[in-house]
Amino acid sequence: MINVSIIGASGYSGGELLRILLAHPEVNILQVTSKRFVGEPVSLYQPNLRGRTSLTFSSVEELQHCDVMFVALPNGTSMTLMADLVHHAHKIIDLGADFRLRDEKTWYRWYGKPHTAPQLIDKFIYGLPELHREKIKKASFIAGPGCEAAVTILCLWPLVKHNLIEEKPIIVDAKMSSSQAGSRVTLSSHHPERAGVVRSYMPTGHRHTAEIEQELQLNSISPQVSISATAIELVRGLLVTIHTFLKNGLNERDIWNAYRTEYGDEPFIRIIKQKSGLYRYPEPKILQGTNFCDIGFEVDKHTGRLVIIGAIDNLVKGTAGNAIQCMNLMSNFPETLGLEFSGLHPI
Ligand SMILES: NC(=O)c1ccc[n+]([C@@H]2O[C@H](COP(=O)([O-])OP(=O)(O)OC[C@H]3O[C@@H](n4cnc5c(N)ncnc54)[C@H](OP(=O)(O)O)[C@@H]3O)[C@@H](O)[C@H]2O)c1
Repeated sequence: MINVSIIGASGYSGGELLRILLAHPEVNILQVTSKRFVGEPVSLYQPNLRGRTSLTFSSVEELQHCDVMFVALPNGTSMTLMADLVHHAHKIIDLGADFRLRDEKTWYRWYGKPHTAPQLIDKFIYGLPELHREKIKKASFIAGPGCEAAVTILCLWPLVKHNLIEEKPIIVDAKMSSSQAGSRVTLSSHHPERAGVVRSYMPTGHRHTAEIEQELQLNSISPQVSISATAIELVRGLLVTIHTFLKNGLNERDIWNAYRTEYGDEPFIRIIKQKSGLYRYPEPKILQGTNFCDIGFEVDKHTGRLVIIGAIDNLVKGTAGNAIQCMNLMSNFPETLGLEFSGLHPI
């Protein structure tokens, strides 16, 4: 049994960590923090957890020592606290962007402000088990991927590793849900403004580009990724449709081989490409609450375009579930422990 604390547990990612960890047989939740709601019951802000926990929020200043600390703060916040947080935990899993990029200049370029803890960047391992399982097992510090980055990297990594696709163009059309923006209320999250939208949210310049290109730099291949993100009418879930081109002479069998070789034993990756039925390709709807990443593809014989389709629950495989998968690996627990939920249908 390990003692776990969650920094930022009043938010959406923190709440999802709590939901999964309260049912985890090897975890005791020691403390959960909020800045605004110190002393108040957790279930007031995470109402799905009514009757499951009597925890109240603590402040970051009151932290006790724990085995594993999850940090679920807005981007740019954990780097201001990390030098202190490292004294309160054996192991830290940060869900934000602050320690994902290996190079502080790249951080500055994409996030527009200087990194305040560059001396800690090297300690962190990029927390995607399918790519870095052995390093994660030995790590003390993990930087969890962004949700668009997680699903995009998982779709592309086997194809890049097996040298099947051109380095560019790789165009990622991302359909985003409202919970990706976090729980803080803004004008764009106001119901009359958000409901029913199909809104071009970020046609160019998406920050996750940096971590995707970082993780896909393999075998002296440097793929160039272009993301266009659209906000759609969905609370939870994320779908990416990726357009790329197969190298000359390659075909569908090569793609199957790459995915089967890399993901054949992966517990949370499913290749979905059915000839019949309603759910022939990945769809976030039936992944809600699960740690699956579903990947499908189709080759356009007319143009040689390869279309890859990836779906996740942004709050599970896109953040909290993936982080708990990392915790399981770091703690020598079965990798799938606490993450076995298979979703709901119909939903
Ligand atoms: N949402 C997603 O789909 C998603 C996916 C992948 C990764 N992530 C990452 O997960 C992290 C959290 O995102 P989220 O969507 O869960 O955000 P959120 O709902 O806005 O929650 C943020 C949490 O941080 C706390 N907080 C804010 N400023 C703080 C400060 N200065 N000191 C201490 N606590 C502070 C908030 O507490 P109070 O408001 O109670 O004070 C709240 O508990 C982000 O870095 C994000 O990049 C999110």
